Amino acid sequence: MRTYFLLCLSIVLAANALSDNLVQAADPAFTHGVASGDPDRESVLLWTRLVSPDSPELELTWELAKDPTMQTILKTGTATARQEHDYCVKVIAADLEPGTTYYYRFRQGNIVSPTGRTRTLPRTAEHIRIGVANCAKYTGGYYHAYDALADTDDLDVIIHLGDYIYENGATRPGDSYYPSFLATGRQHNPPHTCVTLQDYRTRYAQYHQDPELLKLHARYPMIAIWDDHEIAKIPMQKSPSGEPIYDAAWQQRFNDSLQAWHEWIPCRAKQGEVIYRDFQLGSLVNLLMVDTRVCCKSKVDKTEASLKDPNRHIVGDEQLAWLKNSMLTHQATWNIMGNQLLFASKGSDWSRWPGFPTDRNQVIDFLTEHPRINFLITTGNAHNPHHYVVREKESSNILLHEVLPGSISSGNNTEKSRSNPAKLKKLIRAQESNPDLLWYNNDAHGFIVLDLTTQRALVEWYFVTDIRQKQYQVYRAHKLVIDVR
Ligand SMILES: [Fe+2]
Repeated sequence: MRTYFLLCLSIVLAANALSDNLVQAADPAFTHGVASGDPDRESVLLWTRLVSPDSPELELTWELAKDPTMQTILKTGTATARQEHDYCVKVIAADLEPGTTYYYRFRQGNIVSPTGRTRTLPRTAEHIRIGVANCAKYTGGYYHAYDALADTDDLDVIIHLGDYIYENGATRPGDSYYPSFLATGRQHNPPHTCVTLQDYRTRYAQYHQDPELLKLHARYPMIAIWDDHEIAKIPMQKSPSGEPIYDAAWQQRFNDSLQAWHEWIPCRAKQGEVIYRDFQLGSLVNLLMVDTRVCCKSKVDKTEASLKDPNRHIVGDEQLAWLKNSMLTHQATWNIMGNQLLFASKGSDWSRWPGFPTDRNQVIDFLTEHPRINFLITTGNAHNPHHYVVREKESSNILLHEVLPGSISSGNNTEKSRSNPAKLKKLIRAQESNPDLLWYNNDAHGFIVLDLTTQRALVEWYFVTDIRQKQYQVYRAHKLVIDVR
């Protein structure tokens, strides 16, 4: 077993406890922890927020070392925290060694940020471990699944499949999240639905004061894509000719929500650029993070005729070409697709991949033409752990596996149907009769670990025992082994 992640990081944990106090500070302060993201073999993005009450901008320095006590600073640089970017700071630490653990921090005068740990991607690899998280509604409960994921040893990177924040306002009596609020006191700030840039920024700031989320960011680099709730629970649709179908007010809200995402999430892409992107972990894993929400999705007409429209897209021709080209170029043992919307079929699927047969068939045809490609999809959005398969068109043979983690805290099927038990019974009947759904759970919260070697992919579903009490335990609830082709 590798040992580089077994170090005790009390310095990181202690720093988390400081953040709540610093939020109220009159002086400049690192109020929302540190994070890293989008690593490659030579570099990684580092993130922090330096709030400066009296100044629209403030210079700061960053430092990077190999030892957790930062005794020997290997890299350093300067950056500026600007009010126009909500004081969020992103820098690229470059010229690093591949497959190496680093520690980093920021400082402004005598003010020092928490210390974070990160890791570059390996040049060669025989064993890779990836943590998978998604759907973390603050009002749903404690982020114990983030905490347990942070405590999981030997991960190379975390991928986040979206719904990192939720735009919804405060939960109220009668709402399915209200019992969680009564148990935990966790309520959304601002209390109304996010609409303006300031609303979204306030929401990210609230989420980034949660100690369990900050702990995860401080321990592992994250590769994130958005789902819908970073913007709104309204599909981000375009007409077949590519025009947004919403009015100017919606477009402003849409742009503001994405601006806040780019400010707060440790992603290299800049606003206006596509966020679908790939990462190579040696020649073992090619990680393909796709965007089924914003860049390329068509308007959804719920008619049989529209299903046949060749201009109806969920990822679009450019993204599909990129996806296929990436797999052919990198020739990795495993191609892992991080994805927001279910690819397998569950019946009524107008807004998911099966509702876009032109694009979906392109993926299926490509994999059929390249039977040696090992393709595994991990999908968010569902709030419940699932293992689906997609079968070959002409037989019942399995073409690919699709694995979904439980949500971190967003309502699962049991929680969402408490006031309507018949709805859950109907859902379970549908689940039990779906031959492509090999395993599911309706009442858990947790995460997945993808453990990959040249011989097999091991998918491990971890559950936490409770998200409404401060104390919890974590356990492995299920596993799947997929042999390499
Ligand atoms: Fe969600």
